Amino acid sequence: MKKTVLLTVAAVALLAGYGAAFADTSPDQDLKTWHTYFDKKFPGVDLQEYSNGVYAIDKVSRDSWEAIEEFPPYEPMIEDGEAMWNKPFANGKTYASCFHGTPAVADKFPYWDLSRKMVISLPLAINECRKANGEKPLKYAKGPITRLLAYMAYESRGQVTDVKIPNKAAMAAYKDGRRYYFTRRGQLNFSCATCHVQNAGMHVRTDILSPALGHTTGWPVYRSKWGDLGTLHRRFKGCHKQMRAKPPKPQIAEMRNLEYFLTYMSNGIEYNGPSARK
Ligand code: HEC
Repeated sequence: MKKTVLLTVAAVALLAGYGAAFADTSPDQDLKTWHTYFDKKFPGVDLQEYSNGVYAIDKVSRDSWEAIEEFPPYEPMIEDGEAMWNKPFANGKTYASCFHGTPAVADKFPYWDLSRKMVISLPLAINECRKANGEKPLKYAKGPITRLLAYMAYESRGQVTDVKIPNKAAMAAYKDGRRYYFTRRGQLNFSCATCHVQNAGMHVRTDILSPALGHTTGWPVYRSKWGDLGTLHRRFKGCHKQMRAKPPKPQIAEMRNLEYFLTYMSNGIEYNGPSARK
């Protein structure tokens, strides 16, 4: 998988960090740079393949993963989620009342809320729905919320990532997420990009590093290591540990901005959650 990559000027700037050189690039330019970069790094890998995480580029583990996906360990959890979706709250309403009647909403999230001026992720919207209906919020990293997310993801399969950046304030959130992605932190002094852009395809201990492209499409994920489903922000926490950095709480503004940037960078790729990973 080691490939010499000829980078465009923009790619060099993108990878170098968030310095003056690319502070002015538009999300559209960033997306093109990202595609060009991964195209060169992994020639012949179709854009849609990136929704499969590391299995898009790791031929060795691909076969056993495909076998797992045929009888997926998360199947009963989708059913649990469906039951949650249908079960009325104490006030008689259901989740449907918050989501225009349909669980298939993956491609509507995350979005920039124009009046509240913040990024709204799907897990946040789920908890706001609960609160509005007099129910206690769910924990964000694991547990029941992953069941509901699994059902909603399953119903959304085939929708295409389509994050929009409607105004200046939304752009600021995008740039905040982008800055976060390229900032080095922790005892290892790595950024997210060190592993998932520059070193994608390389080994870290027993893992092969997956490319950043498509990183947001397959959630929630059933990991054999977890023996359970987890959310995207649970993975964000885990990757901070990989960097020996303090793991941030799920769903804080910084993590939602990170999700906003990272999901934008998967625009055009289909949602295929829930998925199985090592
Ligand atoms: C030291 C290297 C390292 C760093 C730095 C790192 N990760 Fe990871 N990350 C991993 C490994 C290892 C995995 C599991 C194998 C894989 O899918 O790449 C992983 C998996 C992921 C996944 C799951 C991909 C999938 O398809 O299941 C996401 C999303 C992710 N990382 C995001 C991030 C973000 C965001 C950051 C920065 C906050 C980050 N990572 C920093 C090593 C790293």
